[in-house]
Amino acid sequence: MNDFRAGWRSTDDPSWWRDAVVYQVYPRSFADSDGDGIGDLRGLLGRVDYLHELGIDVVWLSPIYASPHDDNGYDISDYRAIDPAFGTLEDLDEVIAALHERGMRLVMDLVVNHTSDEHPWFVESASSPQSAKRDWYWWRPPRDGFAAGEPGAEPTNWGSFFSGSAWQLDEASGEYYLHLFSRKQPDLNWENPSVRAAIYDMMRWWLDRGIDGFRMDVINLISKDPSLPDGEVSPGGLWGDGFPHYAAGPRIHEFLQEMHREVFEGRDRQYLTIGEMPGVTIEQARLFTDPERRELDMVFQFEHVGLDHGPEGKWSPAPVDIVALKRSLASWQVGLSDTGWNSLYWNNHDQPRVVSRFGDDGRYWFESATALATVLHLQRGTPFVYQGEELGMTNVPFAGIEQFRDIESLNYFAEAVDVLGMPREEVLAGMRRASRDNARTPVHWSDEPHGGFTTGSPWIDVHPDFARINAAAQRGRPGSVFEFYRRLIALRHSSAVVVDGEFGMLELEHPALFAFTRTLGDERLVVAANLSSEPLAVPVTVPLGATVHAPHAPDAPHTPTDGETVIANYPRGDRSVLRPWEALVVRTTEF
Ligand code: NOJ
Repeated sequence: MNDFRAGWRSTDDPSWWRDAVVYQVYPRSFADSDGDGIGDLRGLLGRVDYLHELGIDVVWLSPIYASPHDDNGYDISDYRAIDPAFGTLEDLDEVIAALHERGMRLVMDLVVNHTSDEHPWFVESASSPQSAKRDWYWWRPPRDGFAAGEPGAEPTNWGSFFSGSAWQLDEASGEYYLHLFSRKQPDLNWENPSVRAAIYDMMRWWLDRGIDGFRMDVINLISKDPSLPDGEVSPGGLWGDGFPHYAAGPRIHEFLQEMHREVFEGRDRQYLTIGEMPGVTIEQARLFTDPERRELDMVFQFEHVGLDHGPEGKWSPAPVDIVALKRSLASWQVGLSDTGWNSLYWNNHDQPRVVSRFGDDGRYWFESATALATVLHLQRGTPFVYQGEELGMTNVPFAGIEQFRDIESLNYFAEAVDVLGMPREEVLAGMRRASRDNARTPVHWSDEPHGGFTTGSPWIDVHPDFARINAAAQRGRPGSVFEFYRRLIALRHSSAVVVDGEFGMLELEHPALFAFTRTLGDERLVVAANLSSEPLAVPVTVPLGATVHAPHAPDAPHTPTDGETVIANYPRGDRSVLRPWEALVVRTTEF
């Protein structure tokens, strides 16, 4: 392993990832090497130096396995094969080698709550109720008193995450199978020990191939209450909420501990494991990430990315309440301070672009992209950068339904318009803000056609503003979003206080100021960002140094500590006022 920077932790260290920054590649939209309009592994290979330049330690690669692509690869039909659209196993070996040569590591996506309905396991399971693999999935007869196919005959009233019922009728047997996501993503039955053994075997196979860990898709959904009770139906809702019956179910900790024992223990190096966990609470996350319990290294929690969901849910978003956002993030910082570990993210392939969502992607595009980056990256935990975030890519002005590709979005549109009778324009307006496709348009590499992503015709239209926002225009340019991210990442690598410092929130109730301290020994960072488009007077409680304007307590004692600026997104100014979306980080030893 090439130790490319001072302090680089070896993979023998059980928490080598503590000072790492992870970059997520959504391969379909990253870089296309062969002109078929779909990003691929050789495209990624050609951009490994870009990731190295950014300072990335770990690449998380969204699924590249064989798949019918009903959900862009999160529906896997062969866990040990690469989908031809993305390349070959040999291409992947080259990617791994190229990353390792540069001191970077590769984490693969592990999707084992469900498979594709085209996976041989499911094909066999569906072949007959007597199949030896029938019990590898959740099959149930129609509800008592109902004939198969009748409305209401589904075994439970659960809705799917992708609209409609979570049950699909198999005409041949007259039974239903469970699919929490699309009907082409049947849920595996983790109660069956053979299922678990087959999954662990596959995971070991990947570790033997040289990967460095897994990001585990919806891993808190693998243990379900086997009695499958009906869920509550909200007023006006079409389906029941099965979530309490399938999230963090009775055997979740047992399964994860077993996985750890069977897959990771006894190997001569340490791997990184990240569990995606919708709905996870702080108390649960403490258990999942307590190193003593040997479950996972960190989890993705969803609290902060649900704060702009309106009363009707994610498709009718409301402006985010900054105090609620700060309160949520601070509570995770405090909650996981003495045990466990946080992951830190604004974006991924399921979330709209943060600069449009919580920032101002118009007048203060640069300032808000970098202010949001600052307050995230300087928290305690492992930051994740989603492709294009480092360029400040924004939400997409989708013209109409024909520009969307995402199954969740398309199913929602059909249900909202055709079943619920909502006006098309209203539905589209919600989709423009909340659709996962906002994150999935191709990365802008240059101002060439299609942003330099492909020489062919891209599988989803490139964002029209690629000529303004692109990598070629930003790399090496002081004052670019890319260079700001590079500096934030370098700061984590060179600064123990960023990695390990204790987190202390400041001015929690302030409606626009996001300020906190990080303290380690006699060193303290003061992080302050104005998350609004109006100038903001810095309260005395936020010791940025210089003359502090204290509108509410003009006579309060204050010792200026005109510390060194660690990073800032504006040229130096009066530290008593933060300009629109200004972010300023000051180091001090006087406290
Ligand atoms: C979570 C993934 O992040 C998302 O993209 C996918 O649709 C679902 N899990 C189902 O695999």
